Amino acid sequence: MTAPTTLLALVQHTAQALEQAQVHFGHGTTNAWDEAAWLVLHSLGLPLDTPLEGSESQANRPVTPVEYAAAATLLGARTSSRKPLAYLIKQAWLQGVPFYVDERSIVPRSLIAELLADGSLDYWLSESTQRVLDLCTGNGSLAVLTAMTYPDVVVDASDLSPEALEVARINVAQHQLQSRITLLQSDGLHALTGPYDLIVCNPPYVNADSMAALPAEYQAEPAMALSGNLQGGADGMDFIRPLLADVARVLSPIGVLVLEIGHERAYFENAFPELNPIWLETSAGSDQVLLLTRDALNT
Ligand SMILES: C[S@@+](CC[C@H](N)C(=O)[O-])C[C@H]1O[C@@H](n2cnc3c(N)ncnc32)[C@H](O)[C@@H]1O
Repeated sequence: MTAPTTLLALVQHTAQALEQAQVHFGHGTTNAWDEAAWLVLHSLGLPLDTPLEGSESQANRPVTPVEYAAAATLLGARTSSRKPLAYLIKQAWLQGVPFYVDERSIVPRSLIAELLADGSLDYWLSESTQRVLDLCTGNGSLAVLTAMTYPDVVVDASDLSPEALEVARINVAQHQLQSRITLLQSDGLHALTGPYDLIVCNPPYVNADSMAALPAEYQAEPAMALSGNLQGGADGMDFIRPLLADVARVLSPIGVLVLEIGHERAYFENAFPELNPIWLETSAGSDQVLLLTRDALNT
């Protein structure tokens, strides 16, 4: 076929190629069109909000052969490597905020970011909310977004992986939050004392069956960031079990834990039948992120 010569045609062509290659989405986009637009606009050095329809539309913007070649090269890397686009371009976006990313940490996509942005957590916080923990910080995105959302808090951001903490360090510096975010290496809560008024945590929680069926894009991410079975379990709760047994120790009296568990609600309820969490509404439904007060943990 002849090379596309307009921006819209290049996005259409790229979306078709992504669909044909049957790549998997879920690392910043959910469909071929959005990923194609991201890939093309990034390749051409255009803003990601460049309109492709409406009165300001750039749909007919000419595409030079050099630009087409740049997009084709990135498309080829995406389809042949099956790595998330974010790893290939070393950048991911969450709630409109850019983050550096590479294979040392997962691509940021936590639903907790939505809850920070839409004010869902405000009800549980107060003037006294001062210290926050981003447990399992990985790339540091939730620590950064928390610090941006609540300008008066300080944030500890911890992870077991020194490699992930290096990525977090880049993001904290990029957003000039070194004075408010402290990066800490800790296995779960072991090295942490608190007291924290808010803990956000997107831990490894994927069960063993799901781990075995992960698409290549997810296999490109560190296994320790996804698998909740690294202590020999199969229900994905290996990290969460000791966390819930100990977390009241590091929560202040007004403290709350906001915990993401993805599609594992059934496993969670099976493992912790005595708990009565509050399920928080996100774009993915109301069974993927839960909230526990310190009081609820003590009962
Ligand atoms: C699902 S990723 C979340 C990363 C980031 N918070 C986000 O939402 O994009 C889980 C993180 O937990 C970390 N992790 C795994 N086991 C851990 C442990 N025992 N203690 C602390 N962190 C751990 C991994 O290194 C990984 O960075």
